[in-house]
Amino acid sequence: MKIELSKIVKPSSAPVFLVDDARKIKEHKLFKFLGAEDKDYIVRLFEENGDEEFLRFIVLPSGKKALIGFLKNKKTSLRKMIIAMRRVISLAHREKIKEIAVNLGDFLTAGSKSEEIAELLGTQLELANFEFTGYKTAPKEGWNFVERVFVIGKESSPSKISKRNLGGQALKKALADGKIIGEEINKARALSNTPGGDMTPQRLAEAASREGRSAGFRVKILKEDQIKKLGMGGVLGVAKGSAERPRFIIMEYFKGKKGEKPVVLVGKGVTFDTGGLNLKPDNYIYEMHMDMSGGAAVIHAIAALARLKVKKNIVGLVPAVENMPSGSSYHPGDLLKTLGGKTIEVLNTDAEGRVILADALEYAKKYKPQLVIDVATLTGAAIAALGQRASAIFSTDKKTEKEMIDAGEKTGDYVWPLPLWEEYEEEIKGTFGDFANVGKTRYGGAITGAVFLWQFVKNQAPSSNLQDFPWVHLDIAPRMTTIESDSLAKGAAGASIALLVKFLREANR
Ligand code: BES
Ligand code: ZN
Ligand code: ZN
Repeated sequence: MKIELSKIVKPSSAPVFLVDDARKIKEHKLFKFLGAEDKDYIVRLFEENGDEEFLRFIVLPSGKKALIGFLKNKKTSLRKMIIAMRRVISLAHREKIKEIAVNLGDFLTAGSKSEEIAELLGTQLELANFEFTGYKTAPKEGWNFVERVFVIGKESSPSKISKRNLGGQALKKALADGKIIGEEINKARALSNTPGGDMTPQRLAEAASREGRSAGFRVKILKEDQIKKLGMGGVLGVAKGSAERPRFIIMEYFKGKKGEKPVVLVGKGVTFDTGGLNLKPDNYIYEMHMDMSGGAAVIHAIAALARLKVKKNIVGLVPAVENMPSGSSYHPGDLLKTLGGKTIEVLNTDAEGRVILADALEYAKKYKPQLVIDVATLTGAAIAALGQRASAIFSTDKKTEKEMIDAGEKTGDYVWPLPLWEEYEEEIKGTFGDFANVGKTRYGGAITGAVFLWQFVKNQAPSSNLQDFPWVHLDIAPRMTTIESDSLAKGAAGASIALLVKFLREANR
């Protein structure tokens, strides 16, 4: 989809009118591009509508297609605006409209800059225009994707137009940046939506290599013998039951200052989670091909940051395995020795994400990171706690946590905090190993998962002189798939990419 800044509405494109005051329709930026008859018709439609919110498709007297909407108090709710941006595209999609024209001013909210909204618009339009079609026969008339969006830009104060932004350069860049972020999220959604039979650890590694080549970052893939040599007993343990061999994906993007400590992103890459010998019941096993969504998020967050030419040092680590039941599976009761030497007592083979992440979090320390963030579809309990509208965030550092919650709020990629308290460590004390991979009770499972991971971030090798670093854990299980009210295609939601990109670009790190 092309998204371009424009000064006029071309006759070929369907104009979009989104107002918060029906009486102001005549002052709308796109109104002047309509013929007299169409103008009267639209004014009447808004008058007749009353006080109900709506967004709908209409055909004007001239035969021209248009979208009109009335949203109350829209200026005060960025949340509402994000949904409105997506609904414009999904409506156009439904009505087979290929070209639309929107007024950037319609989406401005109180306190946000035009550039911020333009970037958000670029991303949300892309997200809404995505559908996972790779495995479907194309209809004869082709897919109904929107092909072109003209954005009529709002010059915030024409008197201040300098040579530099005369052509709306800043807005153009904001739209383009937003589009890049949307594209990378969609690529992650496509990876996650790919069925388990086709998305193996090796395929995930190939996807990372491909992205590294096109976006410009280094990718190194560790195969099983190297994983063994390093001593990643967690990764090897979970991988034992599968014919597909594990991979450990390492991505390095070093465009920050020389010597500046990197931010390390760690993503859960379970390409299919059957539960292993603790096999999942049928209604729970469905959709478990998306259990590598954290890994896909890390790959594409780095790709987005590279394409945006962000001047930071960033590392991505994705342990990739398939969790299968077979004669060679790891057993409940197995004791696995992780990279750092700590042992895991496997009480449930379905709590596999934390077992592979233990090795990856230990590996992260090699980089002497300034911050480690892991992303994982870790627990069903996070869904029970939050529903499907926000991912769970846990952190050892309140300031970072607050910055990430804010970044989520600005991008529509919401996160909400749960406690990370030492009291919970009692839950995961092992009997024969250092840590048990499930809690002693069935309560607070999202927290138990987080506290388990924490053990592999903590005690940062007392013998070495490593500095302590803050850590954030994002349990994105609640946002693994979209829900109806997201106004996005069914399937993977691509959670945490917009959030990570916003946070890493803006945070003072
Ligand atoms: N991948 C699942 C968690 C999950 C469930 C993600 C539903 C998305 C949707 C994870 O590996 C898992 O099975 N966790 C168990 C942990 C339990 C055995 C302690 C769970 O949540 O039930
Ligand atoms: Zn599992
Ligand atoms: Zn899992």
